[in-house]
Amino acid sequence: MDEQNRPIHTFQVCHVMEPNQNNWLRSGWIQRQAAQRVYVELRFTLRDCNSIPWVSGTCKETFNLFYLQTDESLPAATRFRPTDYAKVDTIAADESFTQTDLGDRVLRLNTEVREVGPVTHKGFYLAFQDVGACIALVSVKVFYKRCPATLRNLASFPDTVPHMDSSSLVEVRGACVENAEERDTPKLYCGADGDWLVPLGGCFCSIGHEEMDGHCRACRPGFFSAYAGNKKCSKCPPHSSSHDQAATICHCDKGFYRAIKDSSTMSCTRPPSAPRNLVSLINDTALFLQWMPPSDTGGRKDITYNILCQRCDGIDGDSGVIQCEPCEPDLRFIPRPLGLTGTSVAIIDFATHANYTFHVEAVNGVSGLGVAARSLANVSVTTHQAGELPSGPALVGVVRKDWASQNSIALSWSQVEQAPSDIVDYEVKYYEKEQEQLSYSSTRTKAPSVVVTGLRPSTVYVFHVRARTAAGYTAYSPNFEFATAVEDPDIADQGQVLVVVTASVGGFSLLVILTLFLLITGRCQGYIKARMKSEEKRRTRFHSGHALPFSGIKTYVDPDTYEDPTQAVEEFAKEIDPSYICIERVIGAGEFGEVCSGRLRIPGRMDIAVAIKTLKGGYMDQQRREFLREASIMGQFNNPNIIRLDGVVTRSRPVMIVVEYMENGALDSFLRTRDGQFTVLQLVGMMRGIAVGMTYLSEMGYVHRDLAARNILVDENLVCKVSDFGMSRILKDDSEAAYTATGGKIPIRWTAPEAIAYGKFSSASDVWSYGIVMWEVMSYGERPYWEMSNQDVILSIEEGYRLPAPMGCPVTLHQLMLHCWQKESGQRPHFNSVLSFLDKLIINPSSLLTLVNDVQSFPDSPEDMPDYPLFISIGDWLDSIKMSQYKNNFLAAGYTTLDSISTMSIDDIRRIGICLIGHQRRIISSIQSLRLQLHHIQQSGFQV
Ligand code: ADE
Repeated sequence: MDEQNRPIHTFQVCHVMEPNQNNWLRSGWIQRQAAQRVYVELRFTLRDCNSIPWVSGTCKETFNLFYLQTDESLPAATRFRPTDYAKVDTIAADESFTQTDLGDRVLRLNTEVREVGPVTHKGFYLAFQDVGACIALVSVKVFYKRCPATLRNLASFPDTVPHMDSSSLVEVRGACVENAEERDTPKLYCGADGDWLVPLGGCFCSIGHEEMDGHCRACRPGFFSAYAGNKKCSKCPPHSSSHDQAATICHCDKGFYRAIKDSSTMSCTRPPSAPRNLVSLINDTALFLQWMPPSDTGGRKDITYNILCQRCDGIDGDSGVIQCEPCEPDLRFIPRPLGLTGTSVAIIDFATHANYTFHVEAVNGVSGLGVAARSLANVSVTTHQAGELPSGPALVGVVRKDWASQNSIALSWSQVEQAPSDIVDYEVKYYEKEQEQLSYSSTRTKAPSVVVTGLRPSTVYVFHVRARTAAGYTAYSPNFEFATAVEDPDIADQGQVLVVVTASVGGFSLLVILTLFLLITGRCQGYIKARMKSEEKRRTRFHSGHALPFSGIKTYVDPDTYEDPTQAVEEFAKEIDPSYICIERVIGAGEFGEVCSGRLRIPGRMDIAVAIKTLKGGYMDQQRREFLREASIMGQFNNPNIIRLDGVVTRSRPVMIVVEYMENGALDSFLRTRDGQFTVLQLVGMMRGIAVGMTYLSEMGYVHRDLAARNILVDENLVCKVSDFGMSRILKDDSEAAYTATGGKIPIRWTAPEAIAYGKFSSASDVWSYGIVMWEVMSYGERPYWEMSNQDVILSIEEGYRLPAPMGCPVTLHQLMLHCWQKESGQRPHFNSVLSFLDKLIINPSSLLTLVNDVQSFPDSPEDMPDYPLFISIGDWLDSIKMSQYKNNFLAAGYTTLDSISTMSIDDIRRIGICLIGHQRRIISSIQSLRLQLHHIQQSGFQV
């Protein structure tokens, strides 16, 4: 019965009193199907032998799992031969039950999963061997893992069985979903655990369709999609509609059109209405037509005007109807008769005493596409003998010049007749006399005076004025000619000199300031670049640092100084044909996409193991630039302790950065998993490698800014290489980076105080970080300053605290760390001195024998710790560091308060019976951390 008192069927055996048990249970034949790796989940209960009297020696608490592969089921009569079966594992229970459990109806059910195989035959049997346990087998579940059929990037991927080899991925090509087209070959990789990884490429929806929940659905009526892509269907533009599904275009409503050059996504438009307020003006030699744009432009901006001219002098004698004929061909239109973009035209060479009718037609890009009537405005004009004035009263009489300057003339006039009360305003027309009124200007004024500005000095202008009344324009006044003031060469010259002097003095300083500014901000590179050859360019881009330009050492070129960062990538990174890259496994996730391992198979060369950083799809241009920035930095380095760039893929998707593969991954996690397993000399060897890389970088003038064990990679021979370049990525990629008061994002625990406080990053601040990396190495990946808050770390450093020596750390190495952590950056050693110091230690290993073992003395703390009562128990503390198993050791040795353990040394820890070196390290490290934190609590005035 289970806990709910429901019957369960089990296979049981319980011959615990009899020796030499060998009882077998075998399954039926299980077909392998598509499985490559088979899993067996067993649920069972097992009796605790201690709870059964008199069975010691005969009672067992394990059973064995076996399997046998065959291509068909064995005939029923086949004899069972245990030797045919291969052992999978011995299964022990996590939970065994006792007599009391039986009485209390407590079911202590165990679940164990084992992998069986590799299974290659058509099927297999499972067999269970009991050797004297009291056991009930409740269920056996046999299964294999598949990556389930899925949709990704509009492609469908079939249900896929992972590879037998758990470290390799199955590459699967996807098929575009219905109504989608392939963009880049869609691919996914099926991992051993049945997860889909590394989506590459994909499809997009065909024309007339849009993406919806991973599928492409047809655009609804009223919507359209003119291009294939992953954009939503757009609403039909104004004056157009679509009545069917999957529209690729919306058709224009009746009376609306698209011009040939209009794209199908533009609104439909119609011809304009007629021009408005067409008026004619005439003087001795020219006739002017003026109009206003139509009230309805038809929705377009490409309006032009055509002038159609008719001469209407004849009257049909019979009908009395006025007869018109096209105007004489020598009539001239200025600027032209057709395709006018302005709203006026001048007409000359017309006949005198003739009746003309002018039609001004407004047209736009869709005029003439339909059957709409032409948009015309008409005006009729009767011409006069030269010298005659147009008929009608000219209200304005004499126009006077009140004053004139070089660029302005002030005019006023009086009315010759009794002015009607409804004068709206006056129009003043003027043109340069010498320009023959081919181009004229006009201005309006409500008063009978005006100051006309914007004129040229020493120039004669012709003015005439007319009034506008509610009934329309009156005739123009006669022409009046006035000249602007003569240009004074002296004044003009002085002005120019002043301007020139100001411009040259002011301009020069401005130029200097501007140049300095641009140099500082690095923005005048484009200008400089145009004038320099490649090597000179390098020097100009020389970045701040310890290396000197022109010293013969190659200097680092900041890719940000390129206007186009892709140019930097092209210059420093090799483009790799993506077909040479074979992705095998996903080994991590970066800010920009997955990091995979694989092989680079360049024809004619040896295959090499590589790590491939991918840029996931849907990135912005800025992200692509940031991603590739690292490659253009890395590509400039060539040093055995700097991660090597093998190349980039930028011309196809996905964009990738290919670097050498480092078998042991990041240094911090590597050390954590190998706690206590290296000699001090091996650890110093790792530090030396990092120092070699950093010496190289500092000589190149490159400041890393994020030097930390997590950014060091380790290869199979324990060679450490500096990686993670492009400090802008600190901002996002490094989970350790925190915002400072000044808004920068900085990995506080690794960063020198001057860099935290005012952003002063330099090779000297990298040396500080290097000291922290040394500490991380010697403490096998412990977190610097443990769980202290960033704020407390900053305050501790400010107060003069420095990290104490990790357990087992030679005094010489801790001394070097303290040297790297000098408050004054100028007093810290340069990387080359660090390197030669480490070399001396390696040559003379006895220098590494004296260890800083005694944690009672804190030479690195500014003052002695006072006595304090403590507030958590030894038990809580050991629980928090997962060392609960040693509670009794501490209690038995008389350590009952945290106060008492805070003075313990490593020898004390050993003496109370903690023998495992990893556990000793964890406990000592925690004691150091406690001391530091307690000091802080006291500094901040808390009573603990
Ligand atoms: N993780 C990130 N980069 C790596 C590399 N080059 N080798 C191994 N693991 C990595």
